[in-house]
Amino acid sequence: MSQTNNTMQRTISAEHDSYVLRYKLRIACIGGDGIGPEVLSASLPVFEKAGDSCGLDFEWEHKDWGAERWLSEGVGLPCGAIEDLRQGYDAILFGALGDPRIPDMAHGREILLGLRRELDLYANVRPVQVVEPEACPLKNSDAIDFVVVRENTEGLYSGLGESKEIGTPNEVSQDVGVNTYRGVKRIVDYAAQLARVRDSRVTVVDKNNAMKFGGSIWQRVMKEAAAEYPDVGFSHLYADVAAMHLVSKPQSFDVLVAGNLFGDILSDIGAAVMGSLGLAASANIHPEKLSLFEPVHGSAPDISGKGIANPLAMMMSGAMMFDELGFPGAAKAIRDACVDTLEKGPKTPDLGGSSSTREVADAVVGLLS
Ligand code: NAD
Ligand code: IPM
Ligand code: MN
Repeated sequence: MSQTNNTMQRTISAEHDSYVLRYKLRIACIGGDGIGPEVLSASLPVFEKAGDSCGLDFEWEHKDWGAERWLSEGVGLPCGAIEDLRQGYDAILFGALGDPRIPDMAHGREILLGLRRELDLYANVRPVQVVEPEACPLKNSDAIDFVVVRENTEGLYSGLGESKEIGTPNEVSQDVGVNTYRGVKRIVDYAAQLARVRDSRVTVVDKNNAMKFGGSIWQRVMKEAAAEYPDVGFSHLYADVAAMHLVSKPQSFDVLVAGNLFGDILSDIGAAVMGSLGLAASANIHPEKLSLFEPVHGSAPDISGKGIANPLAMMMSGAMMFDELGFPGAAKAIRDACVDTLEKGPKTPDLGGSSSTREVADAVVGLLS
């Protein structure tokens, strides 16, 4: 559970001759671009209903950060945004960014990667669990249950590097992959602690056979962690083999920890294993501070505006938010309602159905008491 800032308000009200303790959560909502606002707005009634029965009220504060504002005002993350978020909110819900008019995703790097870096959201937690066997393209799908723990602030996402002589035959463009001891240690620790809670083990994924400098630190830190967490099993895989095993024997994974880029790629394989990116939830966590919750998927320009995006990944990201804030009852209620909806329908087209985002959201709300 996160130790969030102190915006969570506690109220006691009289109801039916007894006193009821209620909490008010202040949540920053960044819908973003494409299907981001669609899945986020469809999910808020789910969060309200699940939260209400656990004594939660909400103040949703919508932020218009995304492609439109970037294109019209040149603003990505407004001045003071980070401080405002840190001081004033219990959590951030994030839809997705990405707009064909900004092909280099400059606004996404400033907003999304900026939030991850500036808020030091170092643990990107991406669970992979087959909740709908029919959607999974693989065999023995009920035994698939693992979590990708992705380092979220450094690696090849450091933003460091340069391009020289752009557009000439002599061009040299490089991105610097940063792997600090502190950064690798804290994410391996996070993975080990998660494995302990799940009664499982950790697979450390790197590519030290090819990467001379940043590669080897992962296995050195793994050896330290193995001594520090004797009750947790550790093993190592190269990223290419890990990608293969995620398809050929995904049941062999429990907690997989990797650097930023490998974690990004491997978690999309995880989404495919579940059956759709529309089912893959994630949390960007700083265990002692404000955290951000978002689906793994992007803005999906191919389906945006059609009202057919699958909102379940966003809803299950919200469930991760409730868990992190210390309200497991609301989290479980959301997950159960999502799983029920997946089993019985309605389903969006990515899962072979023909229902809309709204119909799926209504069904999930209807299952919440
Ligand atoms: P994408 O995740 O947006 O879409 C990939 C495919 O999955 C598409 O066919 C899309 O229709 C489908 N899909 C994704 N989410 C879905 C959902 N909820 N329901 C049904 N189908 C869904 O990836 P992309 O097309 O490579 O990227 C589009 C834009 O999004 C790019 O600008 C990219 O940079 C950005 N992006 C942003 C994030 C983020 O904000 N976290 C993540 C990934 C990609
Ligand atoms: C994700 C996305 C982002 C990433 C992009 C949009 C920068 O793919 O959240 O997985 O690479 O982290
Ligand atoms: Mn990704």
